[in-house]
Amino acid sequence: MAHDHQARMEHDRSAIKAAFLYGRHFFEFWQSDLNRAVVELADIEPDMTVLDIGAGMGAAAFEAVKRGGVTVVTVEPTAFMRAILKARVAARRLGLRVAVLNAGAQHLPVPSESIDRAWMINVAHHIGDLAAASAELARVMKPGGRILIVDEDFTNESHPKYEQMMNRHQNHGGHGHGEHAHEKEPPDHEGHPEGRQTGSEEHPMAINFDGLAEHLKVAGFSEIQVRYTSLAGVPTRQAMAVR
Ligand SMILES: C[S@@+](CC[C@H](N)C(=O)[O-])C[C@H]1O[C@@H](n2cnc3c(N)ncnc32)[C@H](O)[C@@H]1O
Repeated sequence: MAHDHQARMEHDRSAIKAAFLYGRHFFEFWQSDLNRAVVELADIEPDMTVLDIGAGMGAAAFEAVKRGGVTVVTVEPTAFMRAILKARVAARRLGLRVAVLNAGAQHLPVPSESIDRAWMINVAHHIGDLAAASAELARVMKPGGRILIVDEDFTNESHPKYEQMMNRHQNHGGHGHGEHAHEKEPPDHEGHPEGRQTGSEEHPMAINFDGLAEHLKVAGFSEIQVRYTSLAGVPTRQAMAVR
């Protein structure tokens, strides 16, 4: 929890850095086919409460709120992203249907067993302690509730941004971690677990989703499926699980 608080403070302190890091992806964070596809996969039913972790500017949240009667809870630790998300919620007068909370995945300010569906889109590789995040997810999900964790796989050569992302991480150290890059076997999106991982131990470009699945299992999730497949035209790593 202390770690999470510190992470929040750092996110708030580095508003300019966040504006630079995320501002240049403004249009894809505003809305994206990937976000739409994840919400579609989440199979939301009327009157459900759904949780968007690391919601960014709300690309998935605003897709979800189109579903009848759905309540959307978003958590987002970066002040810059939250400010845009809140402005969008206010502009659409959705304050009663979309909550915007300042938090990270390791400590969700959400009651236990209150969430029907949850997702994290391009967030898992930001999370330092995936075991803690898995335990926290298990706590907030209703029995039978489903989570969907999806990261675009920028380490897959078929990703349209492969070259761009690799260059960025090599030239600038990505988010400051390129010097410690380590690489494993190239990924195989039809089921090989490891995939290639570049970046640092603290903030890799890609995490091992089989390792994530282990954390989910320990946390109490079942029916866990890990997939390395394309979604909305881009290669992704996916973990789905039922509480
Ligand atoms: C690449 S953006 C993706 C945003 C959004 N999910 C989307 O697909 O448009 C990653 C987001 O994860 C958030 N984030 C970083 N660390 C996080 C953590 N520990 N828990 C939850 N979100 C986190 C960042 O603030 C950022 O908004």
